[in-house]
Amino acid sequence: MPGESIVTGPQIDPSKCTLCGRCDSVCPKDVLLVKDKKVVTVNDDCMLCSHCYAVCSPGAISFPWFLKQVKFSSFKYREKILSSKDHSPSEIVNIFRSRRSVRKFSKDTVDDDCVRDLVEFAVTAPSGSNCQEWEFTVVNGRDKVWDLALQVKSFFVKINRLAANPLVRILSIPFTGRKLLNYYRDHYETVRRAIRESSMGIDRLFHGAPCVIVIHSGMNGSTPVEDGTYAAYNICMLAHYMGLATCLIGFAVEAVNRSDELKDYLDIYEKNRVHAVIALGKPAVKFSKHSLRKDYTVEFM
Ligand SMILES: Cc1cc2nc3c(=O)[nH]c(=O)nc-3n(C[C@H](O)[C@H](O)[C@H](O)COP(=O)(O)O)c2cc1C
Ligand code: SF4
Ligand code: SF4
Repeated sequence: MPGESIVTGPQIDPSKCTLCGRCDSVCPKDVLLVKDKKVVTVNDDCMLCSHCYAVCSPGAISFPWFLKQVKFSSFKYREKILSSKDHSPSEIVNIFRSRRSVRKFSKDTVDDDCVRDLVEFAVTAPSGSNCQEWEFTVVNGRDKVWDLALQVKSFFVKINRLAANPLVRILSIPFTGRKLLNYYRDHYETVRRAIRESSMGIDRLFHGAPCVIVIHSGMNGSTPVEDGTYAAYNICMLAHYMGLATCLIGFAVEAVNRSDELKDYLDIYEKNRVHAVIALGKPAVKFSKHSLRKDYTVEFM
């Protein structure tokens, strides 16, 4: 039913509205309409994308119940829309290329405020249908991270024991396809070494990082896996410019997703899937060159 306003959508302040119609033309869900000299909401399909808010220069649009401003506390932030006039393509490429996966961390701790700001930036990533259903679990403190590494190690000790047995590898094919065979081929030896080294106090999993961020969510959103991955990349990028370093830890993602004990340990809802685990800390390595890359294929149709 057409109506004056809906609870979940934008609120229009008629005293500020100039009837320019920009909100009407930008809305992807045709929620807003300029009609009879006022802006009305004509359906309840609002996806809370806030595009209408972002084009309304008089500030007539707000979302008092469902949306908030993005705020940071560990650094000064001044909101500004940037364009090609502000940064050259070369600068942008260097901004992105300067992030690297770091596997050597100093003993310095990471402030909770910095982690909060990283998460605040993570949620500005795109998400399918603007679902924003990500959840974050932070393990901050070297002792806690080491304890998590030991929990993950227990998982891999079991997997390696299974993979080491040629009969189990063959018998697993009808149930899990070639997964165990591929694991044996690609990871068994590396994991075996990491397990051995962990008994000597060496952390091959999180590389000695003092902090770990786990990104997870339920699977009901449109594209939960991609959403979590984009959020993770935001964290990796901003961390670099906060003087921190990151490494995505796929081994930990795999372990937590396959182990209810690990989910329980991290207090992650059993039905959630983990999309990224990020090791975070101050870097103890300095790169003087950007990365090299493999050759690739691109075809223009
Ligand atoms: C999904 C994913 C999982 C990864 N898992 C690990 C991991 O478990 N351990 C690790 O040291 N690096 C891991 N990495 C980091 C990659 O090895 C790294 O991104 C790649 O070598 C390119 O290097 P760069 O990030 O410095 O450009 C992972 C990266 C991605 C994208
Ligand atoms: S963009 Fe703002 S000022 Fe323009 S019609 Fe919409 S609410 Fe009114
Ligand atoms: S938030 Fe997005 S979907 Fe909702 S009314 Fe504004 S532009 Fe339309």
